[in-house]
Amino acid sequence: MTPERLDIDDALTRMQALASDLWSHRSRHHPGQLAWSAAYGEPEVLDLGPAFVVEGAWAWLESLDWLEVCGRDPEAIEQVVQAALAAADDEVTTSTLETESEVLTVLAAAGFTEIEAPWFTHHHLDLSDLPPVELPEGYAVRAVRPDEHEQRAAVHRAAWSSTSRVTGAAYQRLMRTPPYRPETDHVVVAPDGQWVASCCVWLDAATGVALVEPVGCVEEHGRLGLATAASVSALTAARDLGATEGLVCPRGDDDYPGPARLYRRIGFEPGARTRAYRWRRDT
Ligand SMILES: CC(C)(COP(=O)(O)OP(=O)(O)OC[C@H]1O[C@@H](n2cnc3c(N)ncnc32)[C@H](O)[C@@H]1OP(=O)(O)O)[C@@H](O)C(=O)NCCC(=O)NCCS
Repeated sequence: MTPERLDIDDALTRMQALASDLWSHRSRHHPGQLAWSAAYGEPEVLDLGPAFVVEGAWAWLESLDWLEVCGRDPEAIEQVVQAALAAADDEVTTSTLETESEVLTVLAAAGFTEIEAPWFTHHHLDLSDLPPVELPEGYAVRAVRPDEHEQRAAVHRAAWSSTSRVTGAAYQRLMRTPPYRPETDHVVVAPDGQWVASCCVWLDAATGVALVEPVGCVEEHGRLGLATAASVSALTAARDLGATEGLVCPRGDDDYPGPARLYRRIGFEPGARTRAYRWRRDT
């Protein structure tokens, strides 16, 4: 069967459904991560590429030089990878979890070879082991409301970068992208009322897996346990809504170890890591 070529907005629900169906500790994709990647910025700015979908597999050109792949049936994976490469730039990079053997076999056969690049480690947590929320005196943590997209985007940018693409308009759209729920998107409020830390958790109701993405704390309030508090609070809300397991995917290489330490202190345990591969078109 020829893969369907779709804009990400039209493909997202099907891509999320397959990621959810195939979910295990061996798989890279979670519906919440796909929602974040598809909607964290305004569409004109993100300039996302097309997705190629068949029964049992998809390949998404997140940009024309970056590929994401999901599937378990090698034949279906090969069809979507070949369709994506035909539409891609002459050089394409991809990242997979090291345990995704079916995807890795297809990528190797297509000519992808491993490259040195920052990598990420999936971390898992049984949510019955969540610690209590602890905050310094005067700080409070709460869920955002659906009309608070401007403030919510601002606290994200303040922690990450003033040039972040997470604008108020982008966040408003993100909040309409399933499986987003304001109940599991938490912010820490400082004694002066300023929002200073945040954590968005994405609950996949089908698997019970709650993904932490992203987390931030502004520098002036750093190392007070606020990112930890936002994460534990949002995960607790997800557990109250039926989540059984937490997932987070921080950097695993030595260049940026802080976030992995933060999550391990909460109780997350490291699982599989990502590896990056590159393909060049024969000319
Ligand atoms: C990383 C970040 C979220 C930490 O926020 P924070 O509120 O300062 O974190 P906490 O106070 O809850 O830290 C808990 C633990 O995490 C670890 N940690 C946090 N920041 C760290 C850093 N910069 N370097 C090393 N370890 C760090 C420490 O073990 C810390 O405990 P300690 O202070 O007792 O040593 C914040 O610096 C940030 O927003 N950075 C930019 C965005 C980002 O990288 N987000 C995380 C990836 S999703």
